[in-house]
Amino acid sequence: MYVCICKGITDNHIREAVDSGCDSLRDLRRELGVGSQCGKCARHARQILRETRSANEATSFSNSATAGEAVVFWPQTA
Ligand code: FES
Repeated sequence: MYVCICKGITDNHIREAVDSGCDSLRDLRRELGVGSQCGKCARHARQILRETRSANEATSFSNSATAGEAVVFWPQTA
């Protein structure tokens, strides 16, 4: 799906950029040009950035847990 009409950037372009190391809207703007014209796409681009980072962190957590690393859960205080 197109996110940035001005630059022809899709959600997949953004996900690939995040997977390649982009970690902020500023990074996405520099690498893809997203949000650099009218700026109407910035909110949606940021949302995709956050979703992709969360998914990557969850995958990383899952992989480290299955790799035998200790997983520490802090006690809940009511
Ligand atoms: S839609 Fe992205 S800069 Fe205009």
